[in-house]
Amino acid sequence: MTNRETQAAWKYHNGTKHSEWSIRNNTHFLDWANRPLPFKVYPTLQPIPLPRDVPQTGVAALSAMSELVRANGVDSIPGIQDVARLLFFSAGITKQRQFPGGEIYFRAAACTGALYEIELYVVCADLPGLDAGVYHFNPADASLHCLRKGNFRGNLARATAMQAAVAHAPATIICTGTYWRNAWKYQARTYRHFGWDNGTLLANLLAVAAASGLPAEIVLGFVDSEINGLLDLETGREVSLSLVPIGYTSQSLPRPNDAPPLGLETIPLSAREVEYPTMLEMHNASSLESPEEVRDWRGKPPVFSSPAPGLQAVSLQPLPVGEQPKDTVEEVILRRGSTRTFDRTASITFAQLSTILNTATRDLPADFLQPTGSLNDLYLIVHAVENLNAGAYFFRREQNTLELLKEGNFRAHAHHLDLDQELAADACVDMFFLADLRRILERYGNRGYRAVQMEAGVIGGKMYLAAYAQHLGATGLTFFDDDVINFFSPHAEGKSAIFLVAIGKPLKRKTR
Ligand SMILES: Cc1cc2nc3c(=O)[nH]c(=O)nc-3n(C[C@H](O)[C@H](O)[C@H](O)COP(=O)(O)O)c2cc1C
Repeated sequence: MTNRETQAAWKYHNGTKHSEWSIRNNTHFLDWANRPLPFKVYPTLQPIPLPRDVPQTGVAALSAMSELVRANGVDSIPGIQDVARLLFFSAGITKQRQFPGGEIYFRAAACTGALYEIELYVVCADLPGLDAGVYHFNPADASLHCLRKGNFRGNLARATAMQAAVAHAPATIICTGTYWRNAWKYQARTYRHFGWDNGTLLANLLAVAAASGLPAEIVLGFVDSEINGLLDLETGREVSLSLVPIGYTSQSLPRPNDAPPLGLETIPLSAREVEYPTMLEMHNASSLESPEEVRDWRGKPPVFSSPAPGLQAVSLQPLPVGEQPKDTVEEVILRRGSTRTFDRTASITFAQLSTILNTATRDLPADFLQPTGSLNDLYLIVHAVENLNAGAYFFRREQNTLELLKEGNFRAHAHHLDLDQELAADACVDMFFLADLRRILERYGNRGYRAVQMEAGVIGGKMYLAAYAQHLGATGLTFFDDDVINFFSPHAEGKSAIFLVAIGKPLKRKTR
């Protein structure tokens, strides 16, 4: 099936919706004895330790997330310390905790079920402290493994149809998704999680790149088979999801190199793996096959039509920059952790909510977006925000306003929409991400499905950071798809539920 045959994305999306019926009838249980390894290990390759004493940037998290560093034609070459900082604060181990099922190594970015199915690779020219090559990052010991020696920038440029940032990047970080590591728990929904979990990680990566003074952006348009082949992936198990070119070099682009299969040994994740064909179908149907197809794919996002502005609209009032907390991006990432219990008696200020929305939803540098555009719409259930009536709201991005859809206490509804978990009911505000999938798929084909899930993950990841920068709590959550749309309708009619983040004040600090 080709990218243009969008019944593939609809089939996957509709087939993986949560409903009361699907939850009640799911007999899946967690087979702890078959729990997958959380790391990809190449037993035959020597680890190259990354430096651990990397200087902190000292840049405030809220400004790192708000200020884009643009390539301006001047060389900006990351060194090994920058590479170490970028990898550690995106996917490194930041906490460790003992659970009945074993040890869990928590990472810098939130991830469904703490299963960490996103792997990182670096493809670079010669950098200060790192020879040109293709490397895999292993968070277990913060090391790189060299898969190929040499400069493969030309291969990336070809695979992305000469995307400008990639063609000029001295280093590109590639994110992949490993099906089984997440599907062990979430079965076929893992393909949605690929976008979400890659997205939260990218939020950290973009913030740390900006704090390091390095241009970076998200590239989703590439010839899948070329990138998968370069990384020597077994594509029934692991696939490339996104590229992040870092820095700028004026050095001329080398010709693409041969990248023959390596057949490198890796340690099996589990004694036995279960394959979910529906995810492989979704991935194949959203793959791009030639540079020409990539070139056509990139570019103008669809034009969305929102219902006419509501009568009751409140303008956001973010904290002036001078009054924003100055906690550095590194401090905030190390402090971050998903809130396990919110304090139902607490409230947040309207300025805090405005700062989160303003920081998280602006200027996402991605090859499928215009600078001011977005594929996701935000709908809020406000429970406890000072000077804002409790109720359901639509966030009109262009006007920076919240439009009241219905007023009232909707804690019980939020509890239900969030799969009957307490978190969404006890939070101060729940942010629901909804999207006009029909238009997105019309414009981008099945790959639009990857884009909309990933964009939601990035915005959600930025919300986490913007909340923790203000000493609040946050957690990603899952939801009953159609009930979410019904709750926000008629305004949300025709849209699809994509993602959910709850924000509030933690009841008690986690002990880990
Ligand atoms: C997209 C997404 C969805 C999540 N859904 C839930 C959820 O439904 N319930 C829950 O308790 N935690 C949820 N979490 C939180 C994860 O369990 C948490 O990120 C993971 O255990 C790692 O812990 P940390 O975020 O504290 O580092 C979600 C996280 C993400 C990123």
